[in-house]
Formats: sequence, C-alpha cells, structure tokens
Amino acid sequence: MATDRGDYRNVLGIETSCDETGVALLEEGRRIRANVVVSQADLHDEYGGVVPEIACRAHVRSLLPVMDRALEEAECSLEDIDMIGVTREPGLIGSLLVGLQGAKGLSVSFSKPIWGVDHISAHLYSCTLHALRESSRHLSDIAYPRAGLVVSGGHTGLYRIEGPGRYERLGSTMDDAAGEAFDKVASMLDLGYPGGPEIERKARHGDPDSVDFPRPMINSGDYQFSFSGLKTAVLYHCRGQNESGRDTDVSDAERVDIAASFQEAVVDVLVRKLERAAEDMDAMGLSVGGGVAANGRFRERLHEMAEHLDVSLHVPPLSLCTDNAAMIAGKAYFEARHREPDSLHLEAIPT
Ligand code: KG4
Ligand code: ZN
Repeated sequence: MATDRGDYRNVLGIETSCDETGVALLEEGRRIRANVVVSQADLHDEYGGVVPEIACRAHVRSLLPVMDRALEEAECSLEDIDMIGVTREPGLIGSLLVGLQGAKGLSVSFSKPIWGVDHISAHLYSCTLHALRESSRHLSDIAYPRAGLVVSGGHTGLYRIEGPGRYERLGSTMDDAAGEAFDKVASMLDLGYPGGPEIERKARHGDPDSVDFPRPMINSGDYQFSFSGLKTAVLYHCRGQNESGRDTDVSDAERVDIAASFQEAVVDVLVRKLERAAEDMDAMGLSVGGGVAANGRFRERLHEMAEHLDVSLHVPPLSLCTDNAAMIAGKAYFEARHREPDSLHLEAIPT
C-alpha cells in the first residue's frame, strides 16, 4: 500500500448518484460535522421508482442549498475546506454529472484538490467510518479479513475485505438487487417508494411464517444472489388472492403477512450467504452497508450471527446506511492518503 500523503483536515463530501442530494463535512476522517441529505422520494413516489430525468433536475435545484445547509451546520466556509470528495461511479449519468460538475467548479474557484469516489466502496467504507467514530480506535486496530456485504437499491455484493479500502468482490446479484426487490414488492402491495422502509413498517404487524416464499440460491454453494424469482413469487401469490387471477388486490391483513414473509425470505438469504462467506474466509468480522442495512429485522439477525460466530460486526447507523455524503468524504479522505488527487478531466462512470 502507498505511504501517507496529504494532511487534509476538512473534507467536503458530495453525493448525487441516484435520488438523494447529499453534502457532508468530515473532520480528520472521523468526525462528522454535517451530513445533510435531501431525498427526492416524494418526486418519484407516483412512478414507483426513480425517474432519471426528474432525479437530475432535482439535484440541480438542491445541490447549492444542501451545500449551504451543510456548511452552516458545520459552522465553516468553503475556504476552510481542504479537499473535496465526490461520487463518480456508479449511478445515473445525469445525477452523477450534477455532483461532479459542482465539485469541479468548487475545486477550480477555491483551489481545492478533488478525489472521485466509487459509491459502492464508500458504502463498505461507511462501516469503517462508523467503527472509527464509535471508539477512539485507529484504522490499524480493525481486524481483517472481514466479510463484507453491500445491499442497496442498485447493488447486492459480497466482499472479502483485506484492509480499509482493499477488497475483492466474491459475488453479486445476477438480476435484481435486494433493495430493488423491496421497492418492486412494495409497489405490488401499493405501498410507497422507497419500498424498504414501507415493507418494514408493514412487516412489524405480520407473521413471517404465513407465506412460504422461496429463498433463491440460499444453498447454491457460491456467493451469487438472485431476487427476481422471489419478486415473481410474491406477484403470483398476490394474484392468487383474487378470483380473477389478474389483479393484485390484497387485503390489509394479507398485506402485512406478505410483507413480513417477503422480508424474512430476503433476510434469510442475505444472512446465510454472508455467514457462509465469513466461515469460508475465517473472517475476523462482518461489515454490512447500503440502504437495506437500515432494516431492523436484518440488523437483528446480523447481531445474532456475529454473536454466534464470535466476530465483530460493523453496521453503520441508519443515516450512514442509506445514501449520504459522509461516507463519500470518508472514502475520499482515505484515498487522499494513498493516491494523488484526480484532475479536472475526472469523468462520471454510470455503471
Ligand atoms: O444505499 P441506498 O440508499 O441507495 C442505493 O445506492 O441504491 O439504498 C436504497 C435502497 C432502496 O431500495 C430502499 O428500499 C432500501 O435501500 N431500504 C431498505 C430500508 N431502507 C432503505 N430496505 C429494507 N428495509 C429498510 N428499512
Ligand atoms: Zn447507495
């Protein structure tokens, strides 16, 4: 690994890869002075998913006000910033470009170096950031290897983490991401967007054993995932509730049971696959990030697993699970110690 380079105290993080506009101010790689996120969920709700053009336009409107709010909360000005971290990949191209151009503009006008960050690795890094904030520990105190899992709306991947910022992907989803399945099933059940929190709310009142949904690839012997079959199973189950076999008109009582059973099926698969990866690599710990890691039932099962395996669990608080700019600032701070800044030719990479 490269040796330490810059000494950057205040990092401005910018995240606009999907439908959340985030700006954060991170001090010395661990103290979050501001982490402002403005969600566009209400704009996309009626479509049951993110509409790229709407997302892009909303970022244009929100970025500067969100930045002002973050600086105000952090009680600092742009002159106090030492470096900028910005999401460059993956994401919606229009959304990424808004953040990237904003960051480049600031970089030029205030002479601040800029680092483009990979969103998925930032989700993994949010676990490290959380661990650093929780204790007065240093990066070198964290035990490796760790089994990592990123579960979001766009990605579901298992990783072998060798050290901070160093990981190898073991497997990923072959079709829908876990969060995407939550969103689509929520849409079938006429719940709002994003679907994960809505399903979780309904599931609290339902019986997770009421419907025996499949657990796709749970015993496949590899690290791959697949959630589209489960989503289809929910669709067919909903149709079966109705004599016509066409509508997805389910009662409230059925809805809570379907939500609970679906959630349990997803959580079973995620937990089992992570456990298998942890056992195979003789992991010292588990690191889990991404929006789905905000799910209470999933977190409960993760804690049980960590206890059972007798390993540490790094799962960030909810504000660092879903998309946010603090994780981008954290990952950029880490990268700044190991590589040169990016040039203004830095480009957005959508996939
Ligand atoms: O990481 P994230 O904010 O954005 C992406 O990078 O995709 O993840 C968003 C995803 C959405 O699919 C959302 O439904 C899901 O995370 N999610 C949840 C919960 N909160 C957000 N899924 C299950 N339970 C939750 N509580
Ligand atoms: Zn994300």
